[in-house]
Amino acid sequence: MPELPTHWLRDNCPCAECRDPRSGQKLFQIADLPEDLVVSAQCEMNGNLEVLWSDGHRSRYPLGWLTEAGDGDGRTEADKRLWVAADFRRGLPEAEWEAYLADPAEQAAVLTAVRRSGFAVLRGVPAVERQVLRVAGSFGFVRVTNYGELFDVRVEPDPNNLAFTSVAITPHTDNPYRDPVPTLQLLHCLENSATGGDSGLVDGFGAAAVLREEAPADFAVLTRTPVPFVFRDHGAELRADRPLIDVDPLGRIREVRFNNRSIGTLRGSREELDAFYAAYRRFAAVTLRPELQLTFRLDPGDCLVLDNTRLLHARTAFRQDGRRHLQGCYADLDSLTSTLAVLHRRTAALDAIAELFAGEGAGEYLGEAVTMAEHMLQAAAAAEAAGAAPQLVAAALLHDVGHFQGALRGRDLMQGQDSRHGDSGADWLAQWFGPEVTEPVRLHVAAKRYLCAVEPGYRERLSEASEYTLMVQGGPMDDAQAAAFAALPGAADAVAVRRWDDQAKAAGAAAPDFEHYRTLLASLMR
Ligand code: OGA
Ligand code: ZN
Ligand code: ZN
Repeated sequence: MPELPTHWLRDNCPCAECRDPRSGQKLFQIADLPEDLVVSAQCEMNGNLEVLWSDGHRSRYPLGWLTEAGDGDGRTEADKRLWVAADFRRGLPEAEWEAYLADPAEQAAVLTAVRRSGFAVLRGVPAVERQVLRVAGSFGFVRVTNYGELFDVRVEPDPNNLAFTSVAITPHTDNPYRDPVPTLQLLHCLENSATGGDSGLVDGFGAAAVLREEAPADFAVLTRTPVPFVFRDHGAELRADRPLIDVDPLGRIREVRFNNRSIGTLRGSREELDAFYAAYRRFAAVTLRPELQLTFRLDPGDCLVLDNTRLLHARTAFRQDGRRHLQGCYADLDSLTSTLAVLHRRTAALDAIAELFAGEGAGEYLGEAVTMAEHMLQAAAAAEAAGAAPQLVAAALLHDVGHFQGALRGRDLMQGQDSRHGDSGADWLAQWFGPEVTEPVRLHVAAKRYLCAVEPGYRERLSEASEYTLMVQGGPMDDAQAAAFAALPGAADAVAVRRWDDQAKAAGAAAPDFEHYRTLLASLMR
């Protein structure tokens, strides 16, 4: 183990004294660590680095964590796919609204496109007023501004913004005069029957990278000149002083803010202003290069979602021979990114569960004629066929996951030890699912003992293996136990799952595979 940076290592101690176990937040002040702090002793043990510190504290770090590569928040050019128009010859990043709503994978693809390419188009968003707010709400929060929670882009009699006329609008950042600038813009097309009014997008990061390549001194000027952007009407007076090209502390492009309409009056020496205007003009010319202009037409029902800190958007002039009406709103990338990360987390969890079905699930199920996976899939199919609520279909599907995590547990049960697979399964599932899913899983063993007590003929219908495990699990409930069970809020659900469980032992019976339930499971994850 090479020598590690002392205060860095200690600042990242994961122990419960240093970090709140629930939130993971740090419980100490950085300045409280001793200046002369050193590692007194360290050793590697069981995949961890164990450290004894000079102040007596002990820390344990997973070795894998120590060597993880750094990553970022995904906002700089380093994490983008810079593009030119020809990159979309085969189509735009797009999805159908209904599919996006129904399928987490589709939603993840759209949000990933916004992160990587700076935009995506949702098709088939009902061409009805205010739907744009629903789109924003599907991944984040609307940013209300002086234009309201949404704004109408159509020809207005007394426009406070050129956007609300029929003139061409060249590639620009929206609301550059706002601090912070809205990081996302949505434009939803309700009507577009006018001649003209086509939409355009330019990758502002791409344009800035071109400028850096061709005229590095101009690029540098634009990164270090604070430019006043201003907006003023009867009810608002906004101003933000920011560079046209904002780079992060490592010099990587992080934001482009470009809007010829709302640049105010820059002040400075003659040399500074000459240098700025030369660079500004050159950058403007780059953004107008045909090969950088992606042009397409928004039709009613299309909703464009774009990264307003990166892409510049435009429209051509239109004639007033038809009607053109867009509704727009602002939102922010941080929430979109968070939504995407949570989707990925859920996908990873579902992948892990799918792997259990494919791996351990192929193992025999307590001596029944079906494998564990077949058994659980048949139980879910029975629940679905009965028209059960989604949480009960999920509970039926997952009721025996407690047997996984080592086929050992199942074997324990058959060797006369109750492995409490209901509890262990429910506890494991509680990482992702609420009690509406976990409690029927927890109680499905008790439900068997309950039904044996209260339902004549039930016990006789149990399979041989189930009869055997019944005894290991405590046998039928007595009257008091049965009454207590029946009084539990989840009793009815658990009994329902139990009945599908009992039916799900037919050799060779057809049942949908695990993937069939992915969307349903995803919709129940929290
Ligand atoms: C805007 C805008 C584009 C359009 O309202 O910010 O740029 O297509 N509109 O009308
Ligand atoms: Zn605009
Ligand atoms: Zn079962």
